[in-house]
Amino acid sequence: MSGHGAPIPMTSRPCGPLKGEAIVPGDKSISHRSLILGALAVGETKISGLLEGEDVIDTAKAMRAFGADVVDHGGGDWSVFGVGVGGFAEPDQVIDCGNSGTGVRLIMGCMATTGITATFTGDASLNKRPMARVTDPIALFGAQSVGRSEGRLPMTIVGAKEPVPVRYTTPVPSAQVKSAVLLAALNAPGQTVVIEKEATRDHTERMLAGFGADISVRDTDEGREITLTGQPELVAQEIAVPRDPSSAAFPVCAALITPGSDVLVPNIGLNPTRAGLFTTLQEMGADLTFENEREEGGEPVADLRAKFSPDLKGIDVDPARAASMIDEYPVLSVVASFAQGDTVMKGVKELRVKESDRIDAMAKGLRANGVEVEEGEDWWIVKGLGHGNVPGGGTCESQLDHRIAMSFMVMGMAAQKPVSVDDGGPIATSFPIFENLMGNLGAQIVRTNA
Ligand code: S3P
Repeated sequence: MSGHGAPIPMTSRPCGPLKGEAIVPGDKSISHRSLILGALAVGETKISGLLEGEDVIDTAKAMRAFGADVVDHGGGDWSVFGVGVGGFAEPDQVIDCGNSGTGVRLIMGCMATTGITATFTGDASLNKRPMARVTDPIALFGAQSVGRSEGRLPMTIVGAKEPVPVRYTTPVPSAQVKSAVLLAALNAPGQTVVIEKEATRDHTERMLAGFGADISVRDTDEGREITLTGQPELVAQEIAVPRDPSSAAFPVCAALITPGSDVLVPNIGLNPTRAGLFTTLQEMGADLTFENEREEGGEPVADLRAKFSPDLKGIDVDPARAASMIDEYPVLSVVASFAQGDTVMKGVKELRVKESDRIDAMAKGLRANGVEVEEGEDWWIVKGLGHGNVPGGGTCESQLDHRIAMSFMVMGMAAQKPVSVDDGGPIATSFPIFENLMGNLGAQIVRTNA
């Protein structure tokens, strides 16, 4: 769990070219889902390449608390011996999901239709985040919930003993909400229909189909409509987790802004619901290429090569692409600082309710490093200074948010002066090898309390 240890201040100093291969960890979204669906299947699900970050470890612990046998074989190889759909046991302790919105929201969905009661909590960041977006739809299945004011954790969910299927249109573009509803639907009889107006990451749908659920997706005038038939027997699977495009974003963006760089990031999952950042960077003039494009385990995969790109231009980022790059706006705003002209990011209200308010956290940190930012409730503009002109020299608050901490470490690599964060500890939630990996490429990141 993050947020419990002493802060780890970090500084990233301007560095020479970044060169070499960046082997980033497994995909966080797919790692959570592998453990959860493994726990709901019958038999042994074998997972390779699991992200062993704090968020995912917290989900593994939670699956044990609900009765699944979860075994760590080392080196990213894990087994989950599932309890079957509807087979969750009532945990005898509070479930602590640490920093992870994905963990807590998906698990709440799973248990909401099982007739057991569970209490959830998290760290200071997670306990500020909105949970009504999950408790509202699970109430339609018949679950009850009591939490703190404004639907915050800690929260107790009393699962529905006799769940009914639902038809639900997600009010915000959120794969976590969509997934919570689909996972709740697993133990409701009949057909549940979830409609999302904008497509969000579709790993849950793909994996449910892979585990043998009866699930179909079609585009309608209302949006993307997903129909799931409840009470299937999910069959244990072998899952090779692809490497995380959201983690790849950091070495890629660092290479684009650091003079002389040439970095290869192999084997990255490029599911179109996740790959929006890379299209955006190419529109900005990034020297970013996809090598060896192929399919692995039903997901498109490629090796990314990123080279220093001195002539990046600010652009208006297509708001229709927001969901497919929602976690990448912090590091995009760093790249935008090194581009010529304004980068305009609209339709991004969801950034306000992530691990931190990411518009606020980035705007404050960018300003502390000499970059101008304008912001509104659901938009922001970064006023790019062009390559070589970003002052740096600031200390930023990471606000218990791994992506804020990593973004400012990337900024320090190419700014005129070092860039610091008050706490790099949260990086371990999603990218525990970040400092080593970037150091091996040539970055100079130091722990400043060491
Ligand atoms: C995730 C969905 C996204 C994303 C998060 C992971 C997932 O959140 O920000 O890091 O695995 O489903 P929302 O679905 O709330 O946008």
